[in-house]
Amino acid sequence: MSNQARFNDQRGLLLRAVRPYGEAAVDVRILDGTIAEIGADLAPADDETVIDGGGAVLLPGLVDLHVHLREPGREDAETVRTGSEAAALGGFTAVFAMPNTDPTADTAGVVEQVFRLGEQTGLVDVHPIGAVTVGRAGLQLAELGAMADSVARVRVFSDDGACVSDPALMRRALEYVKAFDGVIAQHAEEPRLTVGAQLNEGVVSARLGLTGWPAAAEEAIIARDTLLAAHVDSRLHVCHVSTAGSVDIIRAAKAKGWQVSAEVTPHHLLLTDDLAEDYDPVFKVNPPLRTASDIAALRAGLADGTIDCVATDHAPHSSEDKESEWGSASPGMLGLQTALSVVIETMVETGALDWRGVADRMSAAPARIGRLADQGRPIAIGSPANLVLVDDTAHWTVDRAALASKSRNTPYEGRTLPGRVVATFLRGTATVLDGKLVAGQVAGASR
Ligand code: DOR
Ligand code: ZN
Repeated sequence: MSNQARFNDQRGLLLRAVRPYGEAAVDVRILDGTIAEIGADLAPADDETVIDGGGAVLLPGLVDLHVHLREPGREDAETVRTGSEAAALGGFTAVFAMPNTDPTADTAGVVEQVFRLGEQTGLVDVHPIGAVTVGRAGLQLAELGAMADSVARVRVFSDDGACVSDPALMRRALEYVKAFDGVIAQHAEEPRLTVGAQLNEGVVSARLGLTGWPAAAEEAIIARDTLLAAHVDSRLHVCHVSTAGSVDIIRAAKAKGWQVSAEVTPHHLLLTDDLAEDYDPVFKVNPPLRTASDIAALRAGLADGTIDCVATDHAPHSSEDKESEWGSASPGMLGLQTALSVVIETMVETGALDWRGVADRMSAAPARIGRLADQGRPIAIGSPANLVLVDDTAHWTVDRAALASKSRNTPYEGRTLPGRVVATFLRGTATVLDGKLVAGQVAGASR
């Protein structure tokens, strides 16, 4: 933080030859953490740091509504610091941390602890999500108001990893958060329909002899909760939508004008359930990988705005928890460092989204849902300089040993993906430059 202030006070930063939203190349001047000037061939001022963008695509810094940073409690799998590093390297400037920690983030004290760890790390803004129920046990509402009033200013609440399955409790949570413009982010899974479930219920689960996870377990909760949100006129956000039927239900709810938003993960846009053929638990995730027709519906839903945003559900797990037999392995996949590349492969290269669409689904929309005022803003004079520079011509091959996360459970090991994050700026300070962490200092820039 002190580096940032000193850097910005002393001199400006000039990004040369960058293409906002993939459009015409311009120069962008940043002063005091804010975009000060955009134009052709801006002359460098005295003492100004110049970074040559080389025609790379400039986007608003990405915002992730759904990550697991594991701190407090499972610092062997991830910490706020290592998760922030993965986020910055992935092009993110803000992340929302899920509360399934130990202790659970269900009090003002725990959300403040996570918030302060994020501030101390200073690479991305870390916004804690508060639990909906005490201990995420689904029995009693947590102190939502106290978390909202805390320094962490919590606006998103979720029992993620578990569903708020009691409809009366869900109704009360939706009513309660209206007082402070909060939103309930539901992990939609009817628990009575997923007892022992291991993999999407379909031909692959039947062939492998794994207990099936029916699409209806997700869709039944989404249908119920959209009705509840409409009934009490509150905001519902649906986490990690994974089925074609869910997209249809959300589309219908939005058509009625209900306050419903939704996210999809990169892995549900790319990977299918047949990857489980070899029982490799790196492909075990909750909700499970689905089918090619689900993927087609999710991509179409993201393209037409039925699904508002992409969220990674970055879920690091230690090798002890993850590298065991399928049945006992923990569900979840790393996502922060690969998200943008997977979205480029599945949405940009297929023509489903242009760069403005990517900026909306990965920055503006999640910032709006999470009620962040200074993230997700357009690339324009006066906007905070939360930015990511992406080389859209580059490809890279995922090497799990080289990822910043403390855990190694990427489903993309050995895959070559398009698009490389060159630099990430948080309020004008580079946290990543030339694809490497610079941790709050501008290093390697030419003057
Ligand atoms: O795959 C998952 N992993 N899904 C969840 O809902 C929770 C997450 C985790 O915490 O590992
Ligand atoms: Zn979840």
